[in-house]
Amino acid sequence: MNSHLLLVMILGIQMSSGYAQDTLKSMQQLRAEVNYEEKNVPDYALPSLFAGSNDANLIDATTWNNKIRPEWLELFEREMYGHFPDEGLHVSFIINSDQMVFGDKFRRKEVTINVSNGRHGHDISLLLYLPTKVRGPVPMFVGLNFYGNHTIHSDPGISIHRSWARNNEDYGISNNRVDDKSRGIRANRWPVEQIIQAGFGLGTIYYGDIDPDYDDGFNNGIHSLLDEEVDKSTLSSISAWAWGLSQALNYFEQDSQIDHDHVAVIGHSRLGKTSLLAGALDQRFAMVVSNDSGCGGAALSRREFGETVHIINRSFPHWFNERFNHYNEQVNKLPFDQHSLLALAAPRPLYVASASEDLWADPHGEFLAAKEASKVYNLLGEKGLEDASMPAADSPSNKGVVGYHMRSGKHDITSYDWAQYLSFASRHFKK
Ligand code: GCU
Repeated sequence: MNSHLLLVMILGIQMSSGYAQDTLKSMQQLRAEVNYEEKNVPDYALPSLFAGSNDANLIDATTWNNKIRPEWLELFEREMYGHFPDEGLHVSFIINSDQMVFGDKFRRKEVTINVSNGRHGHDISLLLYLPTKVRGPVPMFVGLNFYGNHTIHSDPGISIHRSWARNNEDYGISNNRVDDKSRGIRANRWPVEQIIQAGFGLGTIYYGDIDPDYDDGFNNGIHSLLDEEVDKSTLSSISAWAWGLSQALNYFEQDSQIDHDHVAVIGHSRLGKTSLLAGALDQRFAMVVSNDSGCGGAALSRREFGETVHIINRSFPHWFNERFNHYNEQVNKLPFDQHSLLALAAPRPLYVASASEDLWADPHGEFLAAKEASKVYNLLGEKGLEDASMPAADSPSNKGVVGYHMRSGKHDITSYDWAQYLSFASRHFKK
């Protein structure tokens, strides 16, 4: 066969499958096409939350809980987030340190979560700060952090991890290793004093301790414990990170100083995508917080505003399962949109937040998803998001069981954001 004909045939095969076709578009092209104009959002129809019926009145709470909810969860795992198969893994906890710090204002604990497959093990370090002035077990916030537990506070007693870390000149991180120089560099995102003052404890894990955030074919982190036969196309880093959050909750259940019935799972950006999935999978989390989670998190995929499914899959192939690529050029074929993921938090308190300058994460798409998900809250007898349209910046809408705000400013999690989450949690966790 002549080589020209062969090329034409190969191209023909590629053009006929959505997934192969996208390899023809360069990342540069994709980024150049990113839409930041509301008027250019394509027409779209969201799949009904109520499985085939658009009318919540035709569905009752029992049908939602026993039938529709599990079906959505299964679809999300199959088509997007994948799954972490923990069958055959054994998890144990070792309390490495437990002491009063900062003039006895807080208690700091470090716990090793050891995960073993019987042949070898993998350690994940959980850092806890608990208030000492609260009587009885304390409610908690738990979330993953981007660079290491030692980066969330300048406390010199926090252990430094030895896992892979993303290089960052500003933070003095090179050769993918962290040291003393990065202590406290992310303290601005973790206002520990503010959290403790509000009567909450904080638990955090470095996400790279669970699974390093790069595409290595799922061989490192906790994936290293899986059997060789496991189907790698079903794995994803986000599902592994979410699994790690549930292990923290398993530890909380064993610690009498922690009120494990009142634990809010929180995350920023890719880790906000993770907190949403963790909250959907594990209903023991009593509240779910998504901060600027954007595409693949709280933002509606069909709006194609800011980051798109196609771009995220190309940039971070390991975040989702292989199947999710199928929708790169046909988001309208997704059997769900992100409002369904938010609805999986119902009837538990859910808080979604955006930032006004964070157009990449599509603030309006995050609001609309929370608004849509509120229908399931209503079905379950709770008040969802009250505002009919997007509230102005810095005017939180938080009277119902679904809260939303758009902070003015950039992609970040700030003490303003935390203040909203803390007061929302205080209101809902009050016994
Ligand atoms: C990138 C990515 C986003 C993600 C963000 C983050 O911007 O495109 O999807 O949320 O990183 O995690 O910081």
